[in-house]
Amino acid sequence: MIKWVKILSKNISIVNEKGGCGKTTTAYNLAQGLYLQGYKVLGIDMDSQGNFSSTWGSNPECIGAFDILMHGETAKDAIQEGEGKFDLISGDRFLKDFAAKTGFDVNFMLHDALLPIEPEYDFIIIDTPPAVATLTTNAMMSSHYVIIPAAPESYSVDGLVQLNESIHAIQLHGVSDRKLRILGILLTRYRKGTRLAGDMAEIIKVVAEKIGTRVFERVIRENMAIKEAQAAKKSVLDYQKYSNGATDYRAFVTEVLADVREDCGGQIRKVKTKKKAGEDAEAEEAAARVIQPEQTEEVND
Ligand SMILES: Nc1ncnc2c1ncn2[C@@H]1O[C@H](COP(=O)(O)OP(=O)(O)OP(=O)(O)O)[C@@H](O)[C@H]1O
Ligand SMILES: [Mg+2]
Repeated sequence: MIKWVKILSKNISIVNEKGGCGKTTTAYNLAQGLYLQGYKVLGIDMDSQGNFSSTWGSNPECIGAFDILMHGETAKDAIQEGEGKFDLISGDRFLKDFAAKTGFDVNFMLHDALLPIEPEYDFIIIDTPPAVATLTTNAMMSSHYVIIPAAPESYSVDGLVQLNESIHAIQLHGVSDRKLRILGILLTRYRKGTRLAGDMAEIIKVVAEKIGTRVFERVIRENMAIKEAQAAKKSVLDYQKYSNGATDYRAFVTEVLADVREDCGGQIRKVKTKKKAGEDAEAEEAAARVIQPEQTEEVND
């Protein structure tokens, strides 16, 4: 008896309603960091600013997240394949039109659209805009995990408790096949040695405990190479491999992988692409998959 199992990707939304705290930078370097470790990764830009897409070098002629959400295009048709980088579903200014939509059903649209492509990826990383509204809710409804970047400065804790309440509401009323866990708060743009950074980091740790999560051990230091990398349309991991920014983001990716692995109760599968694995791709893919009971679906016996 042959049993086929369908195993879905692990989806992570990068969320914080505060602007400029490092969401896009974190989403991009997490997606590329996972890709560089050999995982099959899709990045989705849910922000009408489109910064994630422009760093990737998105083709403006291609359809993107807006066309999926507003025109019923399939996610498969919107994928732009990366060469030496993760795949992309782009975001653009038209997403603002979708953001204006309201209603309960609107919140599930990204979740439903992604289902057919989830078996093709190990990770889907979603960048979100600086507001917890329709676009961010769609991202979280589609996700297993949330990561919250926070810059240790005044006012950065404002909104964390409120964000936790939004996450709670999704845990209660969202889709039943995923539980949406906060993986942690990531301190970004950290200026070591400054009193403000130290004090705020302590306060954020207290808030993290209060909302039942933790602060990642690795902080992302303020680092010029991160800004330069974005101007060069690259991840800092590719732009300057030995910079503080690259070192910090690599360590962060390792922490994320360890957490997800623990949460899955073991190894994370790796989808092998036909390009990489040659003729035996499908057999290797099946062998590489780890069967996770809560996600298995018997298709044939
Ligand atoms: N560790 C860092 N060191 C130096 N500059 C950084 C760092 N992290 C982010 N930046 C810079 O800070 C700015 C804001 O970062 P980013 O765009 O990632 O924030 P964001 O939360 O996505 O913003 P928004 O809410 O507007 O989407 C960018 O110019 C980025 O290059
Ligand atoms: Mg952003």
